[in-house]
Amino acid sequence: MDYEAFLAEKISELKVNGQYRTFQTINRIKGAYPEAYTEGFKKKVVVWCSNDYLNMSQHPDVIYAMHEAIENYGAGSGGSRNIGGTHSYFEKLESSIADWHGKEAALVFPTGYSSNDATIQCLLTLFKDCIVFSDALNHASIINGLRSPAIEKRIFRHNDIVDLERLLSKEPFERAKMIIFESVYSMDGDIAPVKEIVEIAKKYNALVYLDEVHAIGMYGPKGAGISAQLGIADQIDIIQGTMAKAIGIIGGYIAGNSLMIDAIRSFASGFIFTTSLPPVITAACYTSIQHLKKSSVEREKLHQKTFLLRTVLRKKKNQCHVSKYNTYFACTYW
Ligand SMILES: Cc1ncc(COP(=O)(O)O)c(C=O)c1O
Repeated sequence: MDYEAFLAEKISELKVNGQYRTFQTINRIKGAYPEAYTEGFKKKVVVWCSNDYLNMSQHPDVIYAMHEAIENYGAGSGGSRNIGGTHSYFEKLESSIADWHGKEAALVFPTGYSSNDATIQCLLTLFKDCIVFSDALNHASIINGLRSPAIEKRIFRHNDIVDLERLLSKEPFERAKMIIFESVYSMDGDIAPVKEIVEIAKKYNALVYLDEVHAIGMYGPKGAGISAQLGIADQIDIIQGTMAKAIGIIGGYIAGNSLMIDAIRSFASGFIFTTSLPPVITAACYTSIQHLKKSSVEREKLHQKTFLLRTVLRKKKNQCHVSKYNTYFACTYW
């Protein structure tokens, strides 16, 4: 096989389809974000597209915690938690996350992607006969977790509870089932009918797996997400989140009951065989979450600015599509 020719052909296909991507250099300016310098530090720009919704990556307490952790513990973690040992910051962070979501336990992963991928793969290996009901617009990390041809899956129309119930009603009550969906969908910023999906799950004896990646820090009391806002977090079997968006750093997690979390910790290959996050990161995530539990200033400010921007854009251009909930604007300044 001519490997080079094959790869060149693949890249050329992307270019022909207009899907080839190039990176933009965006050097964010500490203390002045969303302002940043482009390549060569000559041109200043305002960043309009970021997941650092609340600017927590720039928060002085978070930066201080990182400095302190790196001074005390150095830069890396030394390996996977089973081999290299676990740092005490993991305990603090996981307890804080569990408490945030009103769950017994939590488990931290290197990224949100790996937390979805590893948990879903693991659960479906353990519950061999489980059928998965997955929203049509679920994130790539969920789709990847479901990739194995051995997994029986049904894709329900996006946010469509009638379609979900139609699919569930065809399966025997006793058979293991899991519904996987997101609370806030990033592309259109629409919110799932979480309460209705939970009710349907109970009716058909299905586990509920909820990706709250775009909601945590942003909605609900203490920013604990849409399930907390609706007061139904206790009815979700697994809440999954990221620490790379509103929390502002990097890392992913799941929260659930102790047995569920212990099973994932003990069996998930994508957790066991990977290097854990370094203390500098877990310290920063812990500090950011502790802050967001206490302070709603950042999310309120962002919601007000999003509302204002949406109203102005609507006035300016009637046909402009501005999503009802989209909060992709990091507009807070320190
Ligand atoms: C819905 C959803 N889940 C999971 C992820 C993965 O999170 P992370 O960026 O922390 O890997 C993303 C990332 O954009 C996402 O949008």
